[in-house]
Amino acid sequence: MDTKLSMSFLAEPNDANFSGYVHGGKVMKWIDEIGYALAVKYSKKYCVTKFVDDIEFLKPIHIGDLVKLDAEIIKFGNTSLRIKVDVSSTNLIKDNTKKNCECFIVFVALDKKGNKSKINKL
Ligand SMILES: CC(C)(COP(=O)(O)OP(=O)(O)OC[C@H]1O[C@@H](n2cnc3c(N)ncnc32)[C@H](O)[C@@H]1OP(=O)(O)O)[C@@H](O)C(=O)NCCC(=O)NCCS
Repeated sequence: MDTKLSMSFLAEPNDANFSGYVHGGKVMKWIDEIGYALAVKYSKKYCVTKFVDDIEFLKPIHIGDLVKLDAEIIKFGNTSLRIKVDVSSTNLIKDNTKKNCECFIVFVALDKKGNKSKINKL
């Protein structure tokens, strides 16, 4: 079973903050989304965000850059998955890629009643 997931898209004008770079909250939303997708894909259960730590914004993302998120499960718990997410961006004209952000995020699997639920190790 794949324990990694990547996604890429262009940074759009409506992702910008007041200084013209991608809004930090937008980056956090993307991190949460890829973490959610990987947690659900692996566990085959609905998952919720439990904990986010060590989020560091290293460099700004420019509008028009190709943004890439790479997520990997780094710890398999009973009901939780700890996922590392790296965010990078590429200026397509200059062919220049930089690392923008990294963070760790924990998801917990839930059953249909909303209680935490065991994740079967695949
Ligand atoms: C998710 C929820 C059901 C978990 O219930 P809980 O009784 O608090 O869970 P626990 O404290 O037993 O922790 C559950 C798992 O998360 C892990 N965990 C909890 N806090 C953690 C932390 N700070 N760092 C890393 N892992 C953590 C535990 O180790 C446990 O993992 P394991 O079962 O693999 O050993 C409950 O906290 C909840 O509903 N939270 C709200 C979620 C939410 O609304 N998220 C935002 C929207 S998606």
